[in-house]
Order: sequence, then C-alpha cells, then structure tokens
Amino acid sequence: MNRPGEKEAMAKAARKLLLTNRRTVCGYTFTIPSPYEYKHQWLWDSCFHAIVLRHFDMQAAEAELRSLMASQHRDGMVPHESKYTLFAAMLPYTSRITQPPIIARAALDVYEKSRNRKFLSEIFPKLQKYHAWLECKRETGNVLKVVDSNESGEDNSILWDDELTIPTHMTYLRWLTTYVPLMPQRAAIISVKATAFYADSIGCMAKIAGILGNTQLSRNYSAKKACVLAAMRKRFRQKDGLYHSLTRKGKVIAYKTNSLFAPMFAGAITKPEAKKLVEEHLLNANEFWTNYPIPTVAISEKKFSARGYWRGPTWININWMVHRGLRAYGFKTVAEELLQKTHAVIKKSGFREYYNPITGDGLGAKQFGWSTLVLDMMKNSS
Ligand code: GLC
Repeated sequence: MNRPGEKEAMAKAARKLLLTNRRTVCGYTFTIPSPYEYKHQWLWDSCFHAIVLRHFDMQAAEAELRSLMASQHRDGMVPHESKYTLFAAMLPYTSRITQPPIIARAALDVYEKSRNRKFLSEIFPKLQKYHAWLECKRETGNVLKVVDSNESGEDNSILWDDELTIPTHMTYLRWLTTYVPLMPQRAAIISVKATAFYADSIGCMAKIAGILGNTQLSRNYSAKKACVLAAMRKRFRQKDGLYHSLTRKGKVIAYKTNSLFAPMFAGAITKPEAKKLVEEHLLNANEFWTNYPIPTVAISEKKFSARGYWRGPTWININWMVHRGLRAYGFKTVAEELLQKTHAVIKKSGFREYYNPITGDGLGAKQFGWSTLVLDMMKNSS
C-alpha cells in the first residue's frame, strides 16, 4: 500500500462498489451486501456500509441508517434482515432476530463527519427504543445473550457447536422452518462479542445524548456502560485473563476465536491486559497472525477450517473491530501492520465476503459491501 496511488485506487474501488450496490425500494435507499447473494438489507452490514459511506457520500450514509430504522418493530427490536421488495411494499418481510448492536456507533460515526444534529435528533428516539428493547429482551445481569447463531452475525461459528448443532450449510428455508420457531428453547449463548458491541453502543448513546443537550440522559447511559464493563469482567474473564462466552447454563466456551479481541473494542480491559492479549495471541503465528490475518478461529484450534465460513476464514469487519481496538489502546504499529495485511488480501483477491487466512484466496460472495471497511481503517490511520 506504500506505492503511490495505491491508497487512492483502493478508496476509489470501495466507493464504486458501495454505490453500485445501492438500491431504492419503496422509498428507502440502502446498500445490499452483494448483488450475487444477499439482495436486501441487513442490520450490521448496513451499519458498516454507513461507516464507509460517510467518507464520501453523507446523504447515502444517513439514508442507509434511516432505511434500517424504518424496519424497527413496534417493540423496539431492529431485525437482522429486512426485505423491501415491490411485491412486499405493503408488508415488508423482516426477521424476528436481531444482530450485534452497532447502530448507535454507526450513527455517531456518521455525525462525526457530517455534524448534522438534525439527523441525530431524528434517529436518537429510535435508538433509545432499541436500547430499551435490548435491555429488556437480551440482557442478563448486564451482559447480552444471543438467541440464535444468526443473531451473533457469525452464523456457523464454533462457539455454537455445543449449544446447538448447526449444519455448516443450511438453506434459508430450513433455517426459517426448523430453527426460527425453536430458537427460544434451543439456543442462547451469553456472548462476549455482543456485549462488547453493546457496551460501545451505550457509550455512543451517552455521547449522542450529550450532543443533543440531554446531560442527565447522557450521565445515565455512561453509568450503564460502566455497569456493563464491570459485568463483562466478572462474567467472562477466566483465570488465564482471556474473556470467553458462556453457554446459557453458564459453562465457559473456551475456544479461541476472534471474540477474544472484542473486549478491546469495548475498552473493557486494562492496557497491560491488552498488551498480553496482543503479544501472546494476536501476534502469535500459531494462533491468529497468519499470512492474511485475522482468522475468525485460531489456527491452533482443532475445529479451525481455512475455508469454513465463520469457522476460520478472515472477515474484514472483524479486522476493522480489532483495528479500532488496537488504535484505542495505542498499538499504532500493530494496527498499521493489520491495515497493510488487510489491504494486501483485498488487493490479491478483491472485495470478497471472506478469505482463506493462509493463502489469501477470496471466498463466498463477490463485490461484498463491508469489505470496503478497509477504507475506514485507512482513514482512521492517517
Ligand atoms: C451472512 C453473515 C451475516 C451477514 C449476512 C449478510 O448471513 O453471516 O453476518 O450479515 O450474511 O451479509
């Protein structure tokens, strides 16, 4: 990425991809993850898209989040997937599960570029309702449970293997008819990653409330964030200092996955703890520092599979999460190396859904939206 023009070329390609993937249906404009496989709107995809779009098209970034919040259910839930088709204009299809809470983060990031308070005040009441829903329906003792692997965003992650047997490849119809109705009884994990996004999101709510002049509300959200961070330490931290998710019965799920680094994104651990985590695990060539990092599962795990969707491959949204954590804790050089390696894999294989962390081969959907997060990583490095 050091050759002249390489950064600009990547930024241009990212911009072209996102603008090509934009659709307007029933008055809503949003970005589909990929024109080949995912032809509607998804929760965390849209947040990542908005975070990139803000660098070159503020209107598009705001429209993305506006469209996402239009599918909010009456009880406050924001579904992980919404289908706006002309046919479904009267009754858009939306799912009954959500995805990691990163909407307030996206809204705040968009605001930090636009300084458009009007947009913030429009979206804030919806975010409050969403947070109230999360607190009521997904919190358990100040940490978050996730009630379906699809809700975790990492559909076939090994974290779910002991909780619910999920076939690696499952048709949408099978998921809808077999898993969705049984979800509340069959599955739930108490998740480090979801809680880390939740803590960050509450911090963003505190900032947004402050920007909008509601000091009391801002204080309440800050106090809540402190409770969530304390609960993360209490519930997830194990003797070796690593944070692990728990089964719904409280058993530790001790696999080494990218979730180990989520506490850094939330600011949940101390600087010495972060240093140990980075040196012993992230930069460990036998675990996460592969040729094209970061594998979603450590290569030392028996279950690691280089092409196995969320069971090993590198995903750019995870690199983005870790990059932000590294920068927040002051690991600038490691963050820069991660950016270089992320750039390298995209240069080699294009904006794919996920990548083989050893060979760098591109896998899954082509022209995949959130892989453009490399642009946000670049902007945050300069
Ligand atoms: C897959 C991913 C999920 C993503 C969706 C759309 O289901 O596992 O995280 O939101 O595709 O890209």
